[in-house]
Amino acid sequence: MKTISVNGINLAYTRRGQGIPLVLIHGFPLDHTSWDEVAPILENKFDVILPDLRGFGQSTTIESPYSMADMADDIARLLDDLGIEKAAIAGHSMGGYVALAFLKKYPQRVIGLGLISSQAAADTPERKDGRYKTASDVAENGVGVVVEAMTPKLSADMRVQEFVRAVIGRQSKPAVIGALKAMAEREEMLPYLSALQNNHLDFPVTLIHGDADVLIPLDRSKEIISVLPSAKLFELSGAGHMPMMEFAQATADGLMFLAS
Ligand code: MLT
Repeated sequence: MKTISVNGINLAYTRRGQGIPLVLIHGFPLDHTSWDEVAPILENKFDVILPDLRGFGQSTTIESPYSMADMADDIARLLDDLGIEKAAIAGHSMGGYVALAFLKKYPQRVIGLGLISSQAAADTPERKDGRYKTASDVAENGVGVVVEAMTPKLSADMRVQEFVRAVIGRQSKPAVIGALKAMAEREEMLPYLSALQNNHLDFPVTLIHGDADVLIPLDRSKEIISVLPSAKLFELSGAGHMPMMEFAQATADGLMFLAS
């Protein structure tokens, strides 16, 4: 991986293919390897940029709190460094929250938006409390807490479970804690998307969501469609929260919509 120095951290990324710049942002608490099966399918059409968000994978972090907007800034600085002015931005789950924060902060730089197993709604007060409790639990007992809690919820597919168990187990406490706090404090984005629709959306939006997702239900994508009817929903029958691994080709097909 290559590394650049941005916003006080070292941000690691890899890049493959040629064509329309497409940033694929991984979810919580994973890293760019989430895209290992999808990126090769996309590389004939896209210049695929695969960052590790601050703290995850090979990127370093600073002391939290920081926000989704800060993580979006890291992506903007990466694009600056690569000399890319505009890109399609797609994110899985928490990566989708970062993609939305990027869109809000840098709308003129976005030529396509992809949300995979994600949502635009903010946390409920209960969910927010739960995140802070998990952050304390991780501080005290380590990342193993999250490995056990999340692995079965990410996918029912044993191959995927084995993969994510290993990836989560490699992540650092500060990354997991920082991301939990950033997710808890993230903004409600549905009104923003609704305003975007009313202002004549001029780029493609793709939503990819499994109907067996127990972490973020499919209804969350339908909620986005209700305020942003020009978005296209790819509903994946039988997919859980990791469609890029459970149904790599169908996920890539949904992302191809960003080239339309
Ligand atoms: C993720 O997969 O990135 C997280 O589960 C998202 C969340 O907890 O809201």
